[in-house]
Amino acid sequence: MQELAWWQRGVIYEIYPRSFQDSSADGIGDLAGIRQRLDYLVDLGVAALWLSPIYPSPMADFGYDIADYCDIDPIFGTLHEFDFMLEEVHRRGLKMILDFVPNHTSDQHPWFLESRSSRDNPKRDWYLWRDQPNNWLSNFGGSGWEHDPTTGQYYYHAFLKQQPDLNWRNPAVRAAMFDILRFWLDRGVDGFRVDVMWLMIKDDEFRDNPLNPSYTPGTPSINRVLPLYNANRPEVHELVAAMRTLIDSYPDRVLIGEIYLPIQQLMEYYGEALTGANLPFNFQLLQCAWSAEAIAQVLSDYDAALPAGAWPNWVLGNHDQPRIASRVGPMQAAVAAMLLLTLPGTITLYYGEEIGMTNVPIAPENVQDPAERNEPGIGAGRDPERTPMQWDATPLAAFTTGRPWLPIAPDHTNANVAAQYREPNSMLALHRDLIRLRNVHPTLIDGKMQSIAAHNNVLRYQRVDANATLLILLNLSHEQVKVDAGGVILKSTHGDRKGENITHSTFLRPAEGLILKM
Ligand code: GLC
Repeated sequence: MQELAWWQRGVIYEIYPRSFQDSSADGIGDLAGIRQRLDYLVDLGVAALWLSPIYPSPMADFGYDIADYCDIDPIFGTLHEFDFMLEEVHRRGLKMILDFVPNHTSDQHPWFLESRSSRDNPKRDWYLWRDQPNNWLSNFGGSGWEHDPTTGQYYYHAFLKQQPDLNWRNPAVRAAMFDILRFWLDRGVDGFRVDVMWLMIKDDEFRDNPLNPSYTPGTPSINRVLPLYNANRPEVHELVAAMRTLIDSYPDRVLIGEIYLPIQQLMEYYGEALTGANLPFNFQLLQCAWSAEAIAQVLSDYDAALPAGAWPNWVLGNHDQPRIASRVGPMQAAVAAMLLLTLPGTITLYYGEEIGMTNVPIAPENVQDPAERNEPGIGAGRDPERTPMQWDATPLAAFTTGRPWLPIAPDHTNANVAAQYREPNSMLALHRDLIRLRNVHPTLIDGKMQSIAAHNNVLRYQRVDANATLLILLNLSHEQVKVDAGGVILKSTHGDRKGENITHSTFLRPAEGLILKM
């Protein structure tokens, strides 16, 4: 195997800091809490942590509205605590990826306070001001334009009105934001996950978006128009390349982009001659039907579209998406884990998926997420997948000693780290074993993807390199299915059968996945 970078070899683990571990009894997770749980992550076998935003914020969008990019919100700790945590992360051989939110600031950021104060303020052009709104919409419902009475103009916000969009065509904005990247890189941060990378630059003529002829009422209103002029503009690639150049001026760092686009457009974010993002997040499995055929198609399409030399990556969950265990059910969740952790390239795992956490229903009076508050009842809310990590079976799941900011899942008495540690066939054990297998058999990391097929709702593919051929068989049905296969079983989702030699064919039990060495 050629020399791989840490972000190619290892699994990235996303932490939603509000919900991982509280150390201050305020019911909200914090950095000292994360630090106390680092050994758990080492044992799980992940290589890097990505933290959702921890910067000072009014929390209108729970940290994705940043009021100061170069400090830590008191809810989470201090810069001093951050440095200590980072030291402890590095001491364990882990890496730290921060969330970087370049598209918009908080409306409380000093830049915006200046910008809105008068039409001739030097920072006026740091944001997008117009006399009249066009038809661009907010991702959280309603118009994307807010009238500001102080100066009588409108500003654009792709998300909440408390999240005004920056004007990335202004060189001073770019310089200021790049200084922020350097601030954290100089502190020793190992890379960034860039928020809504594909939205950063908008049409300079502010043309109206075309209406979406296939919009279905009752779905998020953002889909009423097609985002032709306020998303995925050609100029964004030059900007991504400039970010990459900056990142690469530091040794051994990574640039990840959050990009929700179809495969062909997604691939462009690797950049010309791979000068773009190291990892444009691959969300293709998030929307995919849970059938062997549909997934086989996604695997083949992604593999075929990947530019030469580009490093693949796969995601099954994040803080904006329903939990996989709720999407496919508890039995298939184990199959999903085996799928994810036998795919090529870099895998990103969302906290709690390793213990099979599910979406937690949130009573209307407890809703926190503005996406749900603004457009209630259509499934836009993200609180259900952001509930506290379930460490043990005690009433507060060892997450906090205070009142948790979101409810703890009722099923945490079974689905928790402490219980699953003792249980050799648990989801936790499965994840740990699968992550270890990637290290023992690097073919799983950088072997070719081959012979992808679907039959009787069994998905199969091979991972192949000069050292080994591994066969993965995943039964997405709840029936027993006979499959033709040969090899020695390295791992079953059901925990048994290790070492079993298969000559011609075998049976997969309902929702069983197997990894075989051929
Ligand atoms: C990204 C984040 C999401 C946030 C939005 C606005 O999609 O993942 O949580 O609400 O950007 O920053």
